[in-house]
Amino acid sequence: MLLARCLARSAPLRVLDLMAGSGVRSLRYGLEGEASEVWANDADPDRLPLLRANLAALPEALVAPPSALTAQRLLASLIAAGERRELIDLDAFGYPGALLPAALECVALGGVLYLASTDGRGPTGHDRPMAVRRYGSAARAHPAPWELALRLQLAAVARAAWAQGRGIQPLFAFSEGRTFRTAVRIERLPARREEEQLGLLAHCHGCGEQLLQPLLRLGRWPACACPGEAPLAVSGPLWIGPLQDPGWLKTMAAEAAGSPQTLSPAAGSLLARLMADPGMPARVWPTALIARQLGQGPPPLRALVAALRAEGHQAEVSGVMAGQLRSDAPWPAVLAAARALARRSPASEGPCSAARTAGLDGEPDLAN
Ligand SMILES: C[S@@+](CC[C@H](N)C(=O)[O-])C[C@H]1O[C@@H](n2cnc3c(N)ncnc32)[C@H](O)[C@@H]1O
Ligand SMILES: [Zn+2]
Repeated sequence: MLLARCLARSAPLRVLDLMAGSGVRSLRYGLEGEASEVWANDADPDRLPLLRANLAALPEALVAPPSALTAQRLLASLIAAGERRELIDLDAFGYPGALLPAALECVALGGVLYLASTDGRGPTGHDRPMAVRRYGSAARAHPAPWELALRLQLAAVARAAWAQGRGIQPLFAFSEGRTFRTAVRIERLPARREEEQLGLLAHCHGCGEQLLQPLLRLGRWPACACPGEAPLAVSGPLWIGPLQDPGWLKTMAAEAAGSPQTLSPAAGSLLARLMADPGMPARVWPTALIARQLGQGPPPLRALVAALRAEGHQAEVSGVMAGQLRSDAPWPAVLAAARALARRSPASEGPCSAARTAGLDGEPDLAN
C-alpha cells in the first residue's frame, strides 16, 4: 500500500488486481493506496459476490466493475484495446510465469508489476527439472534459497521485459519462505548495460566460496580454496543485480512516517530490513555455514559486518533471510574475520551449539 501511495504521488494510479481472491487488497488499494481506480478480477466466478460486497466500502466512482475472467483473457482484452494500468498486482497460487509477457504489456511505462509466486520447490533448488521448465534456469541447492528464488523470478521478469524492448528496476523483493514477492518498475528502455545483471552464481560445496559471472562476460570460473576440481553447484541464469531500490524504500518509509495510518510492527521491521540491505552483491552466507567451515561457533553477524567494512569490503546483514551475511569480500577474508572474532570472544561456542544457535531455518540439503 505504501508503494501504491508513492506511485499515486506522481500520476493517477489505476490498479488491476488480477487474481483478487477475497478482494481485500483491492479494497486496501482504494482505502489506503490512494488509487484513482481499482479493478478486481478473479477467474473463480463464485468469488464475485464477495468481491462486490468487499468493494462496496469504496466510493462508486473509484471501482471498476469486478470481473471473473481468467487473467489470460483479461490481459488479452487490455492488449487488444491498447490499455495499460499503473500497478498490476499478480498474486498467484504457484508460479504465473506464463502470464508474465501479457502482464508486462499491460503495465504503463514507469508503472509497477507486483508479482507473487508460491512456487518454492523449483526455484530453491529442490526440483531441478521444474526450475528448468518454469524459469529456463538451473537452480541448485544454495545456502540462501529464498534469495535464489527471488533472483530466478526477477530474471524471468527481466527476460520477458527485454524481449519487449523494455527495462526493469526491481524496487523490492522479499519472502517468508512460502511466497516470493517482487515489485518491479517497468522502464521504457533497458538501462545502459542492464544485461550485466543476468548471470550465473556458483556455490562451492567444498570450501563454501560463492562466485558470480554475468552472462555478458562468461568465462572460466576463478579458483576457490579447494585443491583440484572444485565441487561447484552453478545456478542461473538469474538476476545478479540489486534486489532493493534504497531510494524507493526511503520514499516509502517517509510516506509511512507522514501518514496517520500506523504501519504494523511486521511491515515496519520488513521495511527497515530491506532498507538496510540493497540486495547486492548476490553472495550471501548463513553464519551457520561460516561456523561449519571453521569448526567453531557462529560469528556475531553485526560484528562480522563491521570487521569486513573496516577492511574496505562491502558487507551487510541480509534483509532477505535472517542470520545471513552479504559481502563482496573474498571468501578467505570472510573466514579470517570470523575466526578473529571467535578468538576475541571468550563465549565462543563449539560447532554443535553453532548449528543450534545460528538458525538453520530454510537451509536446504547441500548435497543436492
Ligand atoms: C493467492 S490467491 C489471491 C489472493 C488475493 N490476493 C487475496 O488477498 O485474497 C490466487 C487467486 O487466483 C485465482 N486464479 C487462479 N487462476 C487464475 C487465473 N488464471 N486468472 C485469474 N485468477 C486466477 C484463484 O481463484 C485465487 O482466488
Ligand atoms: Zn571450493
